[in-house]
Amino acid sequence: MSADLQTLFDNNQRWSEEIRRSDPDFFPTLSRQQAPKYLWIGCSDSRVPANEIVGLLPGELFVHRNVANVINHTDLNALSVMQFAVDILQVRHIMVVGHYGCGGVQCALHDRRLGLSDNWLRHVQDVKYKHQPLLAGIAAGRQHDALCELNVIEQVVNSARTTVLQDAWSRGQDLTVHAWCYGLSDGLVTDLGLSVSGVEGAEQHAARAAEAVRARHQGGAAPNT
Ligand code: CO
Repeated sequence: MSADLQTLFDNNQRWSEEIRRSDPDFFPTLSRQQAPKYLWIGCSDSRVPANEIVGLLPGELFVHRNVANVINHTDLNALSVMQFAVDILQVRHIMVVGHYGCGGVQCALHDRRLGLSDNWLRHVQDVKYKHQPLLAGIAAGRQHDALCELNVIEQVVNSARTTVLQDAWSRGQDLTVHAWCYGLSDGLVTDLGLSVSGVEGAEQHAARAAEAVRARHQGGAAPNT
């Protein structure tokens, strides 16, 4: 085995031993059930490790990640994760978590071609086109941060429109979707001020959150990236 991969097995052995030493029941308990309260939908970026950022252990966070944290209505992978999390695990919170410095958002913003993934990033470009007037009013150096935030807001709206969430809300399930953005430069999560707990009003809440993006980035403060 290559030295790179051997290191991973060595790390794994050490990690497993450390946990079993501090809590001998940890793995046996975890192997019998998982009962996470949260579903994290984030970017695949290696610098955005979901559990570590919010200090949750294995078993506490259900996770779906893809390039630029997109929720697309025909993505059976994301929809299946959401359905399992909502119907079976009964999570209470879904957080859509973008991050500043996102390569996918950067490519969408500047029409940069990568290959096959350009087609996936069309969804982020749709967000850019939808909010073109807002973005045009923001200095070039701030547009990336603003589009990262707008993308999260639109993906929250997309998630609220899925049959999975609509069915959950129509049967009275307690479930809220949140819009968050993570900073690579300081490790901090920002709440974008959008929490959706039903189909009603999701559009208006999102429009208000988008206005807050405009207000935040029209000023002269330093960008997050
Ligand atoms: Co990213």
